[in-house]
Amino acid sequence: MDGPPSPGWADPARRYADGDARRGPGAAERAEVTATVFAVANQKGGVGKTTSALNIAAAMTELGCAVLVVDLDPQGCLTFSLGYDPDAVSPSLNDIVVGRATLVETIVQHGEIDVAPANIDLAGAEVTLLSRTGREYLLRGELVELLDSYDVIIVDCPPSLGVLTINGLTAADQVLVPVQCETLSHRGVSQLLETVGDVRRLTNRNLEVRGLVATMFDPRPRHTREVLRDLVARYELPLVGPPVRKSIRFAESPTAGVSLVGAGTGVPGAAAYRAIARELLGLPVDEDLLAAAGWSREQRDEILGLVEIVDE
Ligand SMILES: Nc1ncnc2c1ncn2[C@@H]1O[C@H](COP(=O)(O)OP(=O)(O)OP(=O)(O)O)[C@@H](O)[C@H]1O
Ligand SMILES: [Mg+2]
Repeated sequence: MDGPPSPGWADPARRYADGDARRGPGAAERAEVTATVFAVANQKGGVGKTTSALNIAAAMTELGCAVLVVDLDPQGCLTFSLGYDPDAVSPSLNDIVVGRATLVETIVQHGEIDVAPANIDLAGAEVTLLSRTGREYLLRGELVELLDSYDVIIVDCPPSLGVLTINGLTAADQVLVPVQCETLSHRGVSQLLETVGDVRRLTNRNLEVRGLVATMFDPRPRHTREVLRDLVARYELPLVGPPVRKSIRFAESPTAGVSLVGAGTGVPGAAAYRAIARELLGLPVDEDLLAAAGWSREQRDEILGLVEIVDE
């Protein structure tokens, strides 16, 4: 895949060959663990889906959750970002589609989180799936046996509304929609919401849109804040956590093989993902964390339409 070479690929050898996926800290004591499955989706490319999936997963791990991330994108960016060579991981998601492996056999135990890796072979799998009965349910069926092994499963969808994204939405309890606050953002959101409507009617009636994650946010231009306010109001979608500030550190982190949150950095964007993770888990988010994310009560009121947007 494109991009700078990793300084040294991680060893993907530590798999659950016996089919026994990771159980989170304290899982043995929990009577019943049933994972909540989040799909991170927006067919618009480059809006921060993979970055959000990874950093939310890392923040949830910090909070003691057992987390699996599923790379549903043939670009394999999530796989790459955790330090694995997408071209070398085997088996990967494509092997599930062609019946050579089960999802549990593909899982790699990364230092931070477990990952079901993908690579470009998945593009071929997409074509194979098209002629398959029940093609929308493949991932859902594979996740069933993992639901009691994880607290949270996060599925990173590709930038399309094709059969892979439909698999992610069909397998999910909730969909998170990362948006970059610029003029054309609402087009991607409206198309995605139409697809979510179809999925609800046809393959997963319980799918819930959890809300928007505002990514690469620069609060200075009035326009950015207006776009975010418009998205929240127009689609009546909650904004999950504070907007994630733009930071070059996000672009740098994939070559390190760990997420920015996992690297323990204190940049505002990492704090924002920690706040988002807490909100998704139903945990309180205190003002200190919001302040560390560079987010204030005034900005929140402005976006929610409670006060007028003024030039900074
Ligand atoms: N908060 C941020 N600040 C600055 N850069 C960011 C931020 N979040 C993500 N990026 C960068 O933006 C680019 C696109 O992000 P990412 O790969 O997460 O988007 P995506 O929606 O998954 O893309 P695709 O549609 O291709 O799957 C990456 O280079 C990433 O490092
Ligand atoms: Mg991506």
